[in-house]
Amino acid sequence: MTDALLATLRAIVGEHHCLTDAALRASYETDWTRRFHGDALAVVRPGSTDEVARVLAACADSRVGVVPQGGNTGLVGGSVPRGGEIVLSLLRLNQIGEVDRDAGEVTVGAGATLALVQEAARVAGWEVGVDLGARDSATIGGMVATNAGGVNVVRHGPMRSRLLGFEAVMADGTVLGRLPGMPKDNTGYDLGGLLAGSEGTLAVITQVRLRLVGQLRHRAVCVIGFADAALAVTTAGELRRRLGSVLALELFTDAGLDLVVRHAALAVPIADRAPVYLLVEVASDVADPSDGLFAALEVLGVDPDSVVVATDEAGRHRLWQLRERHSEAINAEGVPHKLDVSVPADRYAELVARSPVVVGAVSPAARTVVYGHVGDGNLHVNILGPEPDDEEVDSAVLELVLELGGSVSAEHGIGVAKVAWLVRDRGQETVAAMRALKAAWDPTGVLNPGVLFER
Ligand code: FAD
Ligand code: MLT
Ligand code: ZN
Repeated sequence: MTDALLATLRAIVGEHHCLTDAALRASYETDWTRRFHGDALAVVRPGSTDEVARVLAACADSRVGVVPQGGNTGLVGGSVPRGGEIVLSLLRLNQIGEVDRDAGEVTVGAGATLALVQEAARVAGWEVGVDLGARDSATIGGMVATNAGGVNVVRHGPMRSRLLGFEAVMADGTVLGRLPGMPKDNTGYDLGGLLAGSEGTLAVITQVRLRLVGQLRHRAVCVIGFADAALAVTTAGELRRRLGSVLALELFTDAGLDLVVRHAALAVPIADRAPVYLLVEVASDVADPSDGLFAALEVLGVDPDSVVVATDEAGRHRLWQLRERHSEAINAEGVPHKLDVSVPADRYAELVARSPVVVGAVSPAARTVVYGHVGDGNLHVNILGPEPDDEEVDSAVLELVLELGGSVSAEHGIGVAKVAWLVRDRGQETVAAMRALKAAWDPTGVLNPGVLFER
């Protein structure tokens, strides 16, 4: 049966795009953190929607699982096989259509990387409105499938907010969707919105129409040192309330900064080190937004000596590196346990303070490094030390998050990493409704088995 399926898949995508050799499969089988790994039956790389449809129909007929994969930068193990599935790489569907300059819209293939779409939008005088550190590898299809957030959610929302239209293939090979899609379209269920965050469990996204945002030419970035997270959170909230120009509000700690500057050999442009830092980016299309930022900081009583500011591009980039390079610096130290969570704003500082404590209680030798998108109540708790399959520290942090009334997944998704927590977080009734959708869209259960739900 397996040989017959592989022969069919080769006939559909061509010999060179059906990889069965272990060495050729390897980079598709382990995730970015190296915590999640599985052997694939084959890696299949279709070159068109029609090929995706035929591959899916063949796999459904054979009851062989399919793991959709874009840039493989996902952090919850949803993009790599659990064992014996086909990895369906969408990277060849990387076409970027012409940007509609008047409407501010563009249709792109699922496999186009965020960085290339950002570039195409910029050339046409627009912005994508979503940005994240994995931009050179993360694909638009993967970003829709995870409803990726990133650093500008506070201004533009997550990926779902950018979605105007889509094309996707269901498990049995049926192609559905509406392209180009329209800003106003109330014709029944929002299926594109449903696919955003579905993590490859309902359909394979093949094309997307994005609604772009206006370019913000005037920008300033500052990093402010604080004695504790509570002060940083209060300041972030006040800046959001007072300034329409806020584009990003990010938090990191001195321990994280130490790691980043050591790993990336960066100079620290901050004279007075502090326990916690808030990175603020403000941006406007009409005028330099830094005067408004300084005025707000003065009203809030922020000590000018605790602030480093950059308005030129190189300086802004230097400051952003201090936050953005946390992920790779931590990966360089070992295989991290990454807990991406969110809590209500008034519990954020408590989460920052208590995460290392609850981790230390179950794993005294573990090292905890936190950072995150404080403007969205989203904290990334990274733990180094415990073995990849030792879930004690994960449980300790997720229990704390539920106690604080938060979500066990803010922006990375459930994947395979947090399946056991979905019912605890969303409740039996909601998860039953989700399972009903899954059964209707994918009755043979071949799409990303083991992701979101237990098998
Ligand atoms: P993959 O990792 O390949 O897949 C992710 C999930 O989507 C899997 O479940 C997969 O099955 C499914 N999938 C992929 N393509 C498709 C498709 N075409 N159709 C259906 N399902 C599909 N995430 C954030 O939200 N915010 C951040 O700030 C952020 N920063 C990051 C920084 C770094 C350095 C790294 C490594 C990751 C970061 N991430 C962040 C996580 C990751 O980049 C996002 O989850 C991204 O959306 C994944 O895109 P991808 O193409 O790599 O998807
Ligand atoms: C980030 O905000 O840096 C990302 O979500 C990646 C990570 O959690 O490391
Ligand atoms: Zn993040």
